[in-house]
Amino acid sequence: RLTPVVIIGSGPAGLLLGHLLRAQGIECLIIERQTRDYVQNRIRAGVLETTTTDLLHRLGLDARLNAEGMVEHGFNLATDDRMIRIDLAALTGRNVTVYGQTEVTRDLIAAAPERGLEIVFEARNVAIHDIDGDTPSVSWTQDGVSHHVHCAFVAGCDGFHGPARAAIGEGPTFERAYPFGWLGILADVPPCHPELIYANTQDGFALASMRSPVRSRYYIQVPLTDRLEDWPEARVWDELDRRFAPLADHAVTRGPALQLSIAPLRSYVFETMRRGRLFLAGDAAHIVPPTGAKGLNLAASDVSYLADALIAAISRGDTVGIDGYQARALTRIWKAERFSWYLTKLMHRFPEDGAFEHRMQVAELDYVAESGAMQTAIAENYVGLPL
Ligand code: FAD
Ligand code: DHB
Repeated sequence: RLTPVVIIGSGPAGLLLGHLLRAQGIECLIIERQTRDYVQNRIRAGVLETTTTDLLHRLGLDARLNAEGMVEHGFNLATDDRMIRIDLAALTGRNVTVYGQTEVTRDLIAAAPERGLEIVFEARNVAIHDIDGDTPSVSWTQDGVSHHVHCAFVAGCDGFHGPARAAIGEGPTFERAYPFGWLGILADVPPCHPELIYANTQDGFALASMRSPVRSRYYIQVPLTDRLEDWPEARVWDELDRRFAPLADHAVTRGPALQLSIAPLRSYVFETMRRGRLFLAGDAAHIVPPTGAKGLNLAASDVSYLADALIAAISRGDTVGIDGYQARALTRIWKAERFSWYLTKLMHRFPEDGAFEHRMQVAELDYVAESGAMQTAIAENYVGLPL
C-alpha cells in the first residue's frame, strides 16, 4: 500500500494538515498514539488568530466556530491596579477568537470520515523508516497487529515528545527554560471580565481567560517546585480573587474545577524541520511559553505552509515549496518565539530579578499605556503576523 502522505499525530497540526491535503484530493493517513477521547479532551490553548480561523473557514469546518467562538476585539495588560487595553480592532483591523483547542480538534475529527481523512487511533510503537530514500515508510502496532505503510512524504506533527524530531537526528537547537510554571483552572462560572487580562501583580503573573460566557479559564504563575497538592481549589480561587479584584469588572466567581493542571514554561526551536522526506510541524519543532497564545496558532501556520508545499510537490512535481518550507516556517516561528518571550519577560515576576528589573517592567508598561506605536507593535503580534 502506498499513501502519498503519512501524518504522525492528530493534534491541531496533524488534523489541519490532513484536512488541507484532503481538500485538494490528496490521500493521507493520520497515525495517533492516544485514543480519540483523550485527544478531544486535552485542555490546552484557547485563543485563535485569524490566520488559524481563516484556515477553518476556508475548509468549511467553521459551523460551530461561527456559532460559539467569541470574537475578542481587544485584550488587557495589567499591573496591580492598572489596566492597559490593547484595542486590537482599532490598531490592526483584526481580532482574535476564543475557541478552545478541544473544540478545534473535536470539529476536525468529526469531519474526518466525510472528507475521506483516515485517522488511526491507539497506534503503538510508531516508527519512521528510510526518510533519506525515495520511499519512506511508517510502521506501528495496533491491538498486537503490526502495520507498515509506504509513502512519498512523512509529516511529523507528533508534538514535543513524539518520535519525528528524533528521527531527524542532531540539529541546531535553541532553548530557554523559565523558572516558573502556570497553574491552570477551568470551571463553569462566568468570566470576571469581558476580555482577557494578563496581569503582572506583586504576587506574580495571572491570566483571566474564558471558553464561553459561562466557562472561565484562569492561570497563575507558580514556582516550579509547586505540586497540584499544594493548590487545593479554595487556595486557587483566593489567589485569583486577590490578583483580579482590583482590575476586573466583576468579582471572580468560584465553582468546582473541571480541570486543574501545572505546566512548565519553555522556549524551544529545533531548526532542522526537514530531512529528506520527513517534515516537522507544530510542537514537534518548537515550543513557545503560553504568554501570547501562540502555540496552536504557530502549529496552524506551519501546516498552512507545509500543505501548500506538499500539494505542489505531489500534484505538479514542483519541489520549490518543500525545499523552501523550513526557511519560510522559521521566519514566522522566530517572530512568534520573540513575542512570546517578550510578553513572558514583561508580565512575570522572575525569582532572580531585583527591584531594578521590576522598575524596568513598570516603565515599559507605562510606555505601552502612553504610546500608540507600542500598542500597535503588541497588537499586530497578538493577532498574528501575516503568513
Ligand atoms: P500536539 O497538540 O501536542 O499534538 C501532537 C499529537 O501527536 C498528539 O495527539 C500526540 O498524542 C501525538 N503523538 C505523540 N507521540 C506520538 C507517537 N509516538 N505516535 C503517534 N502519535 C503521537 N498553547 C496556547 O496557546 N495556550 C495554552 O494555554 C496552552 N496550554 C498548553 C498546555 C500544555 C500542557 C501543553 C503541552 C501545551 C499547551 N499549549 C498552549 C500549546 C498548544 O496546545 C500546542 O502548541 C499545540 O497543541 C500544538 O499542536 P501540535 O498538533 O503541534 O501538537
Ligand atoms: C489561554 C491560554 C493562553 O496561553 C493565552 O495566552 C490566552 C488564553 C486560554 O487557555 O484561554
